[in-house]
Amino acid sequence: MTEPVPAAGDPLFAGDPLFAGDPLIIALDGPAGAGKSTVAARLAEILGLEYLDTGAMYRAVTFAALQAGIDVDDAAAVTQLARDCEIVVADGRVTVDGVDASDAVRSAEVTSAVSTVAAVGQVRAVLVERQRAWAFSRNGGVLEGRDIGSVVFPDARLKLFVTASPMVRAERRVAQSGGDVAEVAAAIAARDLKDSSRATSPLHEAADAVIIDTSEMSIDQVVAQILKMLEHQ
Ligand code: DC
Repeated sequence: MTEPVPAAGDPLFAGDPLFAGDPLIIALDGPAGAGKSTVAARLAEILGLEYLDTGAMYRAVTFAALQAGIDVDDAAAVTQLARDCEIVVADGRVTVDGVDASDAVRSAEVTSAVSTVAAVGQVRAVLVERQRAWAFSRNGGVLEGRDIGSVVFPDARLKLFVTASPMVRAERRVAQSGGDVAEVAAAIAARDLKDSSRATSPLHEAADAVIIDTSEMSIDQVVAQILKMLEHQ
């Protein structure tokens, strides 16, 4: 039997210096397939915090644009859509204007178009504001993305840049969702390049982020290392 997971604010955490002062925000950035989501979800559960997958928000806008027949290269139209649509990312599900799009946001069409949407500065501004509001309304959280430590929460309590070798990342993706390793590796490399070379908030580690290379680590080892860092702050 597993231990019940305490929530932030439970007596267990009362008086815990971890939860004193500013909101406890943990930023996890890094490229696709490095293990961020699993680590972020596990960490949030252990700490009794909520977890936000910000990539799912960019995917949700992309999905909504494709659904509406909007050209993802039309930055003004995509920005308007981002402003207008209601996105809820919670408990591993994604809803867009009340419709469950959890599977649709992971489709090949969305995956290949999302970097274009994520490169639009005004779309980023809309979503960054919502990410900040999400965390402040909860007095903290674990947020995962590409620019959390560098742009969204530069003052986060802990900033991590989680990465792994390109081959390991491709192998993990294939184990998760199938496909050919070489093709998946090429798709990941193309998306990494787009995410790290865009003008607004490109993917790069914050100067004060701790880099964790998970290539040779299990999820449990990564989580344990992060918890140790929190303890020794
Ligand atoms: O984490 P993911 O693969 O679901 O992210 C989808 C896309 O969104 C990816 O191309 C990077 C982009 N993204 C971003 O630019 N900023 C974030 N904070 C999160 C994701």
